Amino acid sequence: QRSLTASDIRARKGADPLVCLTAYTTPVAQLADADCDLVLVGDSVGMVLHGLPSTLGVTMEMMVLHGRAVARGLSRALMVVDMPFGSYEESPAQAFRNAAHLMAETGAGAIKLEGGAHMEETVRFIVDRGIPVMAHIGLTPQAVNALGGYKVQGRGADADRILEDARAVTRAGAFSVVLEKVPAALADQITAGIDIPTVGIGASSGCDGQILVIDDMLGLFDAFKPKFVKRYGDLASDARTAIRTYAQEVRARSFPAPEHVFSQEEPGTC
Ligand code: KIV
Ligand code: NA
Repeated sequence: QRSLTASDIRARKGADPLVCLTAYTTPVAQLADADCDLVLVGDSVGMVLHGLPSTLGVTMEMMVLHGRAVARGLSRALMVVDMPFGSYEESPAQAFRNAAHLMAETGAGAIKLEGGAHMEETVRFIVDRGIPVMAHIGLTPQAVNALGGYKVQGRGADADRILEDARAVTRAGAFSVVLEKVPAALADQITAGIDIPTVGIGASSGCDGQILVIDDMLGLFDAFKPKFVKRYGDLASDARTAIRTYAQEVRARSFPAPEHVFSQEEPGTC
């Protein structure tokens, strides 16, 4: 079967919900591909896999390497790669150059960048030159220092700002927009008010799709849990149990057992 394209995703506005997850490696991308419409190589990779304190230290080089790994694991889902902090904010030309680099080096079908009204010109510039763009508004983690923390965005009178961001990226030609950590009623209002699919994270079940960071939903990254994360698995706890059992068996010399070791006979066994 062919891969989904940004146009296919765009056409799903108002249809059945888009299932989206992040992935950073080939084996996890293969797992996600079975059930996802869109797989994001998020700059969350910096925090989830590299132990960085925020996404600000993520580089183009990291996005290229993880993007290539994810591409090898996907056959159906649309692959979207995040533009890292500092790679697109300076000018539309800088943004296009780096977006083209990510597309060429990874084989992604689209890029994602953070920002609404102030990124309208940049999104239009990239889209007009042939690269599909997913926008990301509401809580934009690369702006954590300016926002004063990972706070809910668009409460009260601030709702108009987020609504205008959604309209701006739609006008600019984005094929979809991530709404992160905004009140559910605002997410529903935005979803009804623009003609591109909204993908929610900490937003509303009324969005046109949902996305989660895969290590969060698997319970693999369990250092902290934002309210909007639902854990569908408990992999960190499974891993701790497995490692503890292994350690006990190594110390007791009960691992390896006879079935794990080789004899002088049976030369055909590998
Ligand atoms: O980097 C990321 O994982 C993201 C999603 C949470 C939308 O941007
Ligand atoms: Na991101």
